[in-house]
Amino acid sequence: MKKALVIGGSNGIGLAIVKKLIAKGYFVEILDRKEIENEIFKKEEYMYRFFDMLDFDEDLIKELAKNEDITLLMITAGFGRVADFEYFHNAEIKNMMTVNATVTIQILRLFYERIKEKVPFYCGVMGSISGLMSSPSAAVYAASKAAVCRLIESVNIELEVSGTENRILNVSPASFKGSRFYGGQNQLEVLEGLAGEIVEHLFKRDCLFIPQYEETFKTVLERYHDDPHEYGLHSYQYKKGSGRLDNNRRVKIGYLSGTFDLFHVGHLNLLQRAKEQCDYLIVGVHNSGAWKGKETFIPFEERMKIVGACKYVDKVVQSCTEDSDAWNLWHYDKLFVGSDYKGTERFKRYEKYFKDKGVEIVYFPYTQSTSSTQIRKTIMMKTKDVKIDE
Ligand SMILES: NC(=O)c1ccc[n+]([C@@H]2O[C@H](COP(=O)([O-])OP(=O)(O)OC[C@H]3O[C@@H](n4cnc5c(N)ncnc54)[C@H](OP(=O)(O)O)[C@@H]3O)[C@@H](O)[C@H]2O)c1
Repeated sequence: MKKALVIGGSNGIGLAIVKKLIAKGYFVEILDRKEIENEIFKKEEYMYRFFDMLDFDEDLIKELAKNEDITLLMITAGFGRVADFEYFHNAEIKNMMTVNATVTIQILRLFYERIKEKVPFYCGVMGSISGLMSSPSAAVYAASKAAVCRLIESVNIELEVSGTENRILNVSPASFKGSRFYGGQNQLEVLEGLAGEIVEHLFKRDCLFIPQYEETFKTVLERYHDDPHEYGLHSYQYKKGSGRLDNNRRVKIGYLSGTFDLFHVGHLNLLQRAKEQCDYLIVGVHNSGAWKGKETFIPFEERMKIVGACKYVDKVVQSCTEDSDAWNLWHYDKLFVGSDYKGTERFKRYEKYFKDKGVEIVYFPYTQSTSSTQIRKTIMMKTKDVKIDE
Protein backbone atom coordinates (compact mmCIF):
# COMPACT_ATOMS: atom_id res chain seq x y z
CA MET A 1 0.00 0.00 0.00
CA LYS A 2 1.20 3.54 -0.86
CA LYS A 3 2.02 5.46 2.30
CA ALA A 4 2.58 9.16 2.94
CA LEU A 5 3.85 10.98 5.99
CA VAL A 6 2.47 14.41 6.83
CA ILE A 7 4.12 16.21 9.74
CA GLY A 8 1.68 18.80 11.07
CA GLY A 9 -1.24 17.05 9.37
CA SER A 10 -3.85 17.48 12.11
CA ASN A 11 -4.71 21.06 11.15
CA GLY A 12 -4.78 23.65 8.41
CA ILE A 13 -3.08 23.07 5.10
CA GLY A 14 -1.52 19.82 6.40
CA LEU A 15 -4.97 18.40 7.07
CA ALA A 16 -6.21 19.50 3.63
CA ILE A 17 -3.19 17.78 2.04
CA VAL A 18 -3.91 14.61 4.02
CA LYS A 19 -7.44 14.66 2.59
CA LYS A 20 -6.09 14.97 -0.97
CA LEU A 21 -3.63 12.13 -0.46
CA ILE A 22 -6.28 9.82 1.00
CA ALA A 23 -8.46 10.60 -2.04
CA LYS A 24 -5.49 9.51 -4.18
CA GLY A 25 -5.39 6.13 -2.40
CA TYR A 26 -2.63 6.83 0.13
CA PHE A 27 -2.57 5.59 3.68
CA VAL A 28 -1.35 8.63 5.60
CA GLU A 29 0.73 8.69 8.76
CA ILE A 30 0.10 11.96 10.60
CA LEU A 31 2.55 13.31 13.14
CA ASP A 32 1.37 16.26 15.18
CA ARG A 33 0.92 17.49 18.73
CA LYS A 34 -2.81 16.81 18.76
CA GLU A 35 -5.11 14.36 16.98
CA ILE A 36 -7.45 15.53 14.24
CA GLU A 37 -10.42 17.12 16.01
CA ASN A 38 -13.34 15.65 14.08
CA GLU A 39 -13.70 12.20 12.60
CA ILE A 40 -13.03 13.31 9.03
CA PHE A 41 -11.35 10.13 7.81
CA LYS A 42 -11.96 6.42 8.24
CA LYS A 43 -9.72 4.59 10.72
CA GLU A 44 -8.19 2.46 7.95
CA GLU A 45 -7.16 5.56 5.96
CA TYR A 46 -4.68 7.09 8.38
CA MET A 47 -2.74 6.72 11.58
CA TYR A 48 -1.99 9.45 14.09
CA ARG A 49 1.11 9.60 16.28
CA PHE A 50 2.01 12.23 18.85
CA PHE A 51 5.03 14.27 17.76
CA ASP A 52 6.30 17.53 19.24
CA MET A 53 9.08 19.20 17.31
CA LEU A 54 10.10 20.97 20.51
CA ASP A 55 10.94 17.58 22.01
CA PHE A 56 12.27 16.01 18.82
CA ASP A 57 11.89 12.22 18.67
CA GLU A 58 14.73 11.48 16.24
CA ASP A 59 14.33 7.70 16.59
CA LEU A 60 10.72 7.87 15.38
CA ILE A 61 11.76 9.79 12.25
CA LYS A 62 14.66 7.39 11.63
CA GLU A 63 12.26 4.45 11.87
CA LEU A 64 9.78 6.09 9.46
CA ALA A 65 12.57 6.98 7.01
CA LYS A 66 13.50 3.28 6.87
CA ASN A 67 9.95 2.32 5.95
CA GLU A 68 10.10 1.70 2.18
CA ASP A 69 6.29 1.88 1.93
CA ILE A 70 6.48 5.60 2.72
CA THR A 71 7.19 7.37 -0.57
CA LEU A 72 5.96 10.87 0.27
CA LEU A 73 6.93 13.30 3.01
CA MET A 74 5.23 16.64 3.54
CA ILE A 75 6.21 18.91 6.45
CA THR A 76 3.54 21.48 7.23
CA ALA A 77 4.08 21.93 10.99
CA GLY A 78 5.04 25.47 11.83
CA PHE A 79 3.89 28.59 13.57
CA GLY A 80 4.47 32.33 13.61
CA ARG A 81 2.93 35.62 14.47
CA VAL A 82 2.91 39.18 13.29
CA ALA A 83 4.54 41.23 16.05
CA ASP A 84 7.34 43.73 16.35
CA PHE A 85 10.69 42.21 17.30
CA GLU A 86 10.74 43.86 20.74
CA TYR A 87 7.71 41.77 21.79
CA PHE A 88 9.49 38.45 21.35
CA HIS A 89 10.80 36.65 24.40
CA ASN A 90 13.97 34.65 23.74
CA ALA A 91 12.04 31.44 24.46
CA GLU A 92 9.65 32.21 21.60
CA ILE A 93 12.56 32.93 19.25
CA LYS A 94 14.16 29.62 20.21
CA ASN A 95 10.91 27.68 19.73
CA MET A 96 10.10 29.31 16.38
CA MET A 97 13.57 28.65 15.00
CA THR A 98 13.47 25.08 16.33
CA VAL A 99 10.12 24.15 14.77
CA ASN A 100 10.18 26.14 11.53
CA ALA A 101 13.87 25.71 10.77
CA THR A 102 16.14 23.44 12.82
CA VAL A 103 13.95 20.37 13.30
CA THR A 104 12.40 20.74 9.82
CA ILE A 105 15.91 20.66 8.34
CA GLN A 106 16.90 17.74 10.59
CA ILE A 107 13.89 15.73 9.41
CA LEU A 108 14.89 16.39 5.78
CA ARG A 109 18.38 15.16 6.63
CA LEU A 110 17.04 11.96 8.20
CA PHE A 111 15.00 11.32 5.03
CA TYR A 112 17.81 12.41 2.70
CA GLU A 113 18.98 8.91 1.71
CA ARG A 114 15.40 8.27 0.56
CA ILE A 115 15.15 11.61 -1.25
CA LYS A 116 18.48 10.97 -2.99
CA GLU A 117 17.39 7.59 -4.35
CA LYS A 118 16.74 7.18 -8.08
CA VAL A 119 13.22 5.81 -7.44
CA PRO A 120 10.57 8.53 -7.03
CA PHE A 121 10.27 10.04 -3.57
CA TYR A 122 7.95 13.02 -3.18
CA CYS A 123 8.95 15.59 -0.62
CA GLY A 124 7.73 19.06 0.30
CA VAL A 125 7.92 21.69 3.03
CA MET A 126 5.72 24.67 3.82
CA GLY A 127 8.02 27.69 3.59
CA SER A 128 6.53 31.15 3.27
CA ILE A 129 6.76 34.15 0.99
CA SER A 130 8.32 35.90 4.00
CA GLY A 131 11.23 33.48 3.69
CA LEU A 132 11.95 34.95 0.25
CA MET A 133 12.09 38.61 1.23
CA SER A 134 12.17 40.93 4.25
CA SER A 135 9.16 40.90 6.51
CA PRO A 136 9.08 43.72 9.09
CA SER A 137 6.83 42.88 12.07
CA ALA A 138 7.38 39.21 11.33
CA ALA A 139 11.16 39.25 11.55
CA VAL A 140 11.68 36.04 13.52
CA TYR A 141 9.21 34.11 11.41
CA ALA A 142 10.87 35.43 8.24
CA ALA A 143 14.29 34.38 9.60
CA SER A 144 13.06 30.86 10.33
CA LYS A 145 11.40 30.46 6.92
CA ALA A 146 14.38 32.02 5.10
CA ALA A 147 16.59 29.33 6.65
CA VAL A 148 14.40 26.59 5.25
CA CYS A 149 13.94 28.27 1.83
CA ARG A 150 17.72 28.66 1.37
CA LEU A 151 18.37 25.11 2.57
CA ILE A 152 15.92 23.68 0.04
CA GLU A 153 17.24 25.86 -2.78
CA SER A 154 20.80 24.71 -2.06
CA VAL A 155 20.05 21.03 -1.51
CA ASN A 156 17.98 20.84 -4.70
CA ILE A 157 21.14 21.68 -6.65
CA GLU A 158 22.99 18.87 -4.86
CA LEU A 159 20.13 16.52 -5.76
CA GLU A 160 20.20 17.58 -9.40
CA VAL A 161 23.95 17.06 -9.64
CA SER A 162 23.66 13.65 -7.97
CA GLY A 163 21.49 12.50 -10.87
CA THR A 164 18.18 11.87 -9.11
CA GLU A 165 14.93 13.37 -10.40
CA ASN A 166 13.70 13.87 -6.84
CA ARG A 167 13.49 17.38 -5.43
CA ILE A 168 12.30 19.03 -2.25
CA LEU A 169 9.33 21.26 -2.97
CA ASN A 170 9.38 24.64 -1.26
CA VAL A 171 5.78 25.82 -0.94
CA SER A 172 5.97 29.54 -0.19
CA PRO A 173 2.56 31.20 -0.01
CA ALA A 174 1.57 34.58 1.37
CA SER A 175 -1.07 34.68 4.07
CA PHE A 176 -3.98 32.29 3.41
CA LYS A 177 -7.26 31.57 5.19
CA GLY A 178 -8.91 28.36 6.40
CA SER A 179 -6.24 27.22 8.87
CA ARG A 180 -5.59 27.74 12.57
CA PHE A 181 -2.47 29.82 11.94
CA TYR A 182 -4.07 33.11 13.01
CA GLY A 183 -6.21 31.44 15.66
CA GLY A 184 -9.08 30.55 13.32
CA GLN A 185 -10.75 27.23 12.62
CA ASN A 186 -9.94 24.57 10.05
CA GLN A 187 -12.01 25.11 6.92
CA LEU A 188 -11.15 22.34 4.52
CA GLU A 189 -13.38 23.69 1.77
CA VAL A 190 -11.37 26.96 1.80
CA LEU A 191 -8.05 25.08 1.64
CA GLU A 192 -9.06 22.51 -0.95
CA GLY A 193 -7.78 24.44 -3.99
CA LEU A 194 -4.39 25.27 -2.43
CA ALA A 195 -3.93 21.70 -1.17
CA GLY A 196 -4.72 20.35 -4.64
CA GLU A 197 -2.11 22.62 -6.24
CA ILE A 198 0.52 21.66 -3.64
CA VAL A 199 -0.05 17.94 -4.23
CA GLU A 200 0.19 18.48 -8.00
CA HIS A 201 3.57 20.23 -7.63
CA LEU A 202 4.73 17.49 -5.24
CA PHE A 203 4.05 14.79 -7.82
CA LYS A 204 5.83 16.81 -10.51
CA ARG A 205 8.82 16.94 -8.15
CA ASP A 206 9.09 20.71 -8.60
CA CYS A 207 11.50 22.86 -6.56
CA LEU A 208 9.36 25.88 -5.78
CA PHE A 209 5.66 26.71 -5.69
CA ILE A 210 4.52 30.24 -4.91
CA PRO A 211 0.72 30.33 -5.06
CA GLN A 212 -0.67 33.18 -7.22
CA TYR A 213 2.82 33.80 -8.59
CA GLU A 214 1.91 35.05 -12.06
CA GLU A 215 -1.08 37.13 -10.90
CA THR A 216 0.53 38.76 -7.86
CA PHE A 217 3.82 37.60 -6.42
CA LYS A 218 6.00 37.85 -9.49
CA THR A 219 5.55 41.64 -9.34
CA VAL A 220 5.80 41.72 -5.55
CA LEU A 221 9.13 39.89 -5.60
CA GLU A 222 10.42 42.11 -8.42
CA ARG A 223 9.50 45.21 -6.41
CA TYR A 224 11.31 43.79 -3.40
CA HIS A 225 14.46 42.98 -5.39
CA ASP A 226 14.43 46.38 -7.12
CA ASP A 227 14.32 48.32 -3.87
CA PRO A 228 14.29 46.22 -0.68
CA HIS A 229 14.27 49.30 1.56
CA GLU A 230 11.27 50.93 -0.09
CA TYR A 231 9.50 47.57 -0.21
CA GLY A 232 10.26 46.96 3.49
CA LEU A 233 8.70 50.29 4.52
CA HIS A 234 5.60 49.56 2.45
CA SER A 235 5.34 46.03 3.90
CA TYR A 236 5.61 47.44 7.45
CA GLN A 237 2.73 49.89 6.89
CA TYR A 238 0.67 47.19 5.21
CA LYS A 239 1.03 44.86 8.19
CA LYS A 240 0.18 47.63 10.65
CA GLY A 241 -3.05 48.24 8.76
CA SER A 242 -3.92 44.57 8.32
CA GLY A 243 -5.18 44.05 11.88
CA ARG A 244 -2.90 41.01 12.25
CA LEU A 245 -0.41 42.68 14.58
CA ASP A 246 -0.30 40.81 17.89
CA ASN A 247 2.11 42.61 20.20
CA ASN A 248 1.25 40.56 23.28
CA ARG A 249 3.57 38.30 25.17
CA ARG A 250 2.96 34.83 23.73
CA VAL A 251 5.21 32.66 25.84
CA LYS A 252 4.06 31.20 29.11
CA ILE A 253 6.74 31.42 31.77
CA GLY A 254 6.61 28.76 34.45
CA TYR A 255 8.28 28.72 37.86
CA LEU A 256 8.81 26.09 40.49
CA SER A 257 11.08 25.93 43.46
CA GLY A 258 12.58 23.10 45.44
CA THR A 259 15.63 21.69 47.16
CA PHE A 260 16.35 18.96 44.59
CA ASP A 261 18.58 17.06 46.98
CA LEU A 262 19.55 13.56 45.75
CA PHE A 263 18.02 14.26 42.34
CA HIS A 264 15.79 11.36 41.30
CA VAL A 265 13.20 10.41 38.70
CA GLY A 266 10.38 12.00 40.72
CA HIS A 267 12.15 15.36 40.33
CA LEU A 268 12.65 14.69 36.63
CA ASN A 269 8.96 13.85 36.11
CA LEU A 270 7.96 17.02 37.93
CA LEU A 271 10.22 19.16 35.72
CA GLN A 272 9.03 17.41 32.55
CA ARG A 273 5.37 17.91 33.42
CA ALA A 274 5.96 21.55 34.29
CA LYS A 275 7.77 22.16 30.99
CA GLU A 276 4.87 20.55 29.10
CA GLN A 277 2.69 23.35 30.45
CA CYS A 278 4.90 26.33 29.71
CA ASP A 279 7.39 27.61 27.13
CA TYR A 280 10.11 28.71 29.50
CA LEU A 281 10.71 27.02 32.81
CA ILE A 282 12.57 28.78 35.61
CA VAL A 283 13.56 26.64 38.57
CA GLY A 284 14.48 28.13 41.90
CA VAL A 285 16.78 25.95 43.99
CA HIS A 286 16.77 26.44 47.78
CA ASN A 287 20.09 27.44 49.23
CA SER A 288 19.07 26.62 52.78
CA GLY A 289 21.58 23.81 53.14
CA ALA A 290 18.79 22.07 54.99
CA TRP A 291 16.03 19.77 53.75
CA LYS A 292 12.95 19.46 55.95
CA GLY A 293 15.11 20.49 58.87
CA LYS A 294 17.98 18.14 57.92
CA GLU A 295 21.22 18.90 56.15
CA THR A 296 21.18 18.30 52.39
CA PHE A 297 23.46 15.59 51.02
CA ILE A 298 24.41 17.55 47.94
CA PRO A 299 25.87 21.07 48.20
CA PHE A 300 23.80 23.94 46.80
CA GLU A 301 26.13 24.70 43.82
CA GLU A 302 26.00 21.05 42.71
CA ARG A 303 22.21 20.88 43.02
CA MET A 304 22.02 24.05 40.86
CA LYS A 305 24.30 22.39 38.28
CA ILE A 306 22.27 19.16 38.20
CA VAL A 307 18.92 20.94 37.84
CA GLY A 308 20.38 23.32 35.23
CA ALA A 309 21.62 20.39 33.15
CA CYS A 310 18.10 18.97 32.84
CA LYS A 311 16.74 19.58 29.32
CA TYR A 312 13.34 20.72 30.62
CA VAL A 313 14.87 23.61 32.58
CA ASP A 314 15.52 26.88 30.74
CA LYS A 315 16.92 28.83 33.66
CA VAL A 316 18.05 27.87 37.12
CA VAL A 317 18.19 30.47 39.88
CA GLN A 318 18.55 30.63 43.62
CA SER A 319 15.04 30.53 45.05
CA CYS A 320 13.57 33.35 47.11
CA THR A 321 12.21 32.76 50.57
CA GLU A 322 8.72 33.20 49.14
CA ASP A 323 7.61 32.18 45.61
CA SER A 324 5.67 35.46 45.54
CA ASP A 325 9.00 37.33 45.81
CA ALA A 326 10.28 35.31 42.86
CA TRP A 327 7.29 36.59 40.85
CA ASN A 328 8.55 40.16 41.30
CA LEU A 329 11.81 39.06 39.67
CA TRP A 330 10.57 36.74 36.91
CA HIS A 331 6.93 37.68 36.26
CA TYR A 332 5.95 34.10 35.65
CA ASP A 333 2.49 33.01 34.43
CA LYS A 334 2.36 29.64 36.16
CA LEU A 335 3.57 28.49 39.54
CA PHE A 336 4.01 24.72 39.80
CA VAL A 337 3.88 22.91 43.11
CA GLY A 338 3.18 19.45 44.53
CA SER A 339 -0.49 18.85 45.37
CA ASP A 340 0.41 18.20 49.01
CA TYR A 341 0.86 21.98 49.34
CA LYS A 342 -2.74 22.68 48.35
CA GLY A 343 -4.69 24.15 51.25
CA THR A 344 -1.57 24.98 53.29
CA GLU A 345 -1.42 28.43 54.88
CA ARG A 346 1.36 29.42 52.53
CA PHE A 347 -0.49 28.49 49.36
CA LYS A 348 -3.77 29.98 50.57
CA ARG A 349 -1.76 33.19 50.94
CA TYR A 350 -0.29 32.80 47.43
CA GLU A 351 -3.72 32.16 45.91
CA LYS A 352 -4.85 35.50 47.30
CA TYR A 353 -1.65 37.27 46.25
CA PHE A 354 -1.78 36.02 42.65
CA LYS A 355 -5.52 36.51 42.15
CA ASP A 356 -5.20 39.84 40.28
CA LYS A 357 -1.84 39.03 38.67
CA GLY A 358 -2.98 36.47 36.11
CA VAL A 359 -0.80 33.77 37.68
CA GLU A 360 -2.14 30.23 37.70
CA ILE A 361 -1.04 27.90 40.50
CA VAL A 362 -0.75 24.39 39.10
CA TYR A 363 -0.84 21.63 41.71
CA PHE A 364 0.83 18.41 40.57
CA PRO A 365 0.43 15.01 42.13
CA TYR A 366 4.00 14.30 43.18
CA THR A 367 4.59 10.92 41.54
CA GLN A 368 7.95 9.40 42.23
CA SER A 369 9.27 5.89 41.96
CA THR A 370 11.94 6.41 44.58
CA SER A 371 11.50 9.32 46.90
CA SER A 372 14.29 11.34 48.43
CA THR A 373 13.07 10.14 51.80
CA GLN A 374 13.58 6.50 50.80
CA ILE A 375 17.00 7.21 49.32
CA ARG A 376 17.95 9.14 52.43
CA LYS A 377 16.85 6.31 54.69
CA THR A 378 18.78 3.76 52.64
CA ILE A 379 21.94 5.86 52.68
CA MET A 380 21.59 6.48 56.41
CA MET A 381 21.11 2.76 57.08
CA LYS A 382 24.01 1.73 54.90
CA THR A 383 26.39 4.30 56.31
CA LYS A 384 25.30 4.02 59.97
CA ASP A 385 28.14 1.84 61.16
CA VAL A 386 30.56 2.52 58.36
CA LYS A 387 33.59 4.55 59.21
CA ILE A 388 34.78 6.50 56.23
CA ASP A 389 38.52 7.08 55.89
CA GLU A 390 39.11 10.63 54.72
N1 LIG B 1 -1.57 30.34 7.25
C1 LIG B 1 -0.80 31.17 6.56
O1 LIG B 1 -1.18 32.31 6.25
C2 LIG B 1 0.57 30.69 6.12
C3 LIG B 1 1.26 31.43 5.15
C4 LIG B 1 2.51 30.98 4.74
C5 LIG B 1 3.05 29.84 5.26
N2 LIG B 1 2.36 29.13 6.19
C6 LIG B 1 2.99 27.93 6.74
O2 LIG B 1 2.15 26.82 6.48
C7 LIG B 1 2.34 25.82 7.50
C8 LIG B 1 0.98 25.36 7.97
O3 LIG B 1 0.29 26.45 8.50
P1 LIG B 1 -1.28 26.47 8.69
O4 LIG B 1 -1.73 27.81 8.24
O5 LIG B 1 -1.90 25.27 8.10
O6 LIG B 1 -1.34 26.48 10.29
P2 LIG B 1 -2.05 25.54 11.37
O7 LIG B 1 -3.49 25.35 11.01
O8 LIG B 1 -1.77 26.19 12.67
O9 LIG B 1 -1.30 24.16 11.27
C9 LIG B 1 0.02 23.99 11.73
C10 LIG B 1 0.16 22.65 12.41
O10 LIG B 1 1.51 22.53 12.87
C11 LIG B 1 1.46 22.02 14.19
N3 LIG B 1 2.63 22.37 15.01
C12 LIG B 1 2.98 23.59 15.49
N4 LIG B 1 4.02 23.46 16.31
C13 LIG B 1 4.34 22.13 16.36
C14 LIG B 1 5.30 21.37 17.05
N5 LIG B 1 6.13 21.92 17.94
N6 LIG B 1 5.35 20.05 16.84
C15 LIG B 1 4.48 19.45 16.02
N7 LIG B 1 3.52 20.11 15.33
C16 LIG B 1 3.45 21.44 15.52
C17 LIG B 1 0.23 22.67 14.79
O11 LIG B 1 -0.14 22.01 15.96
P3 LIG B 1 -0.76 22.87 17.22
O12 LIG B 1 -2.09 23.36 16.76
O13 LIG B 1 -0.82 21.90 18.33
O14 LIG B 1 0.18 24.00 17.48
C18 LIG B 1 -0.75 22.50 13.64
O15 LIG B 1 -1.35 21.24 13.67
C19 LIG B 1 3.20 26.47 8.56
O16 LIG B 1 4.53 26.03 8.41
C20 LIG B 1 3.12 27.95 8.26
O17 LIG B 1 4.28 28.64 8.66
C21 LIG B 1 1.14 29.54 6.63
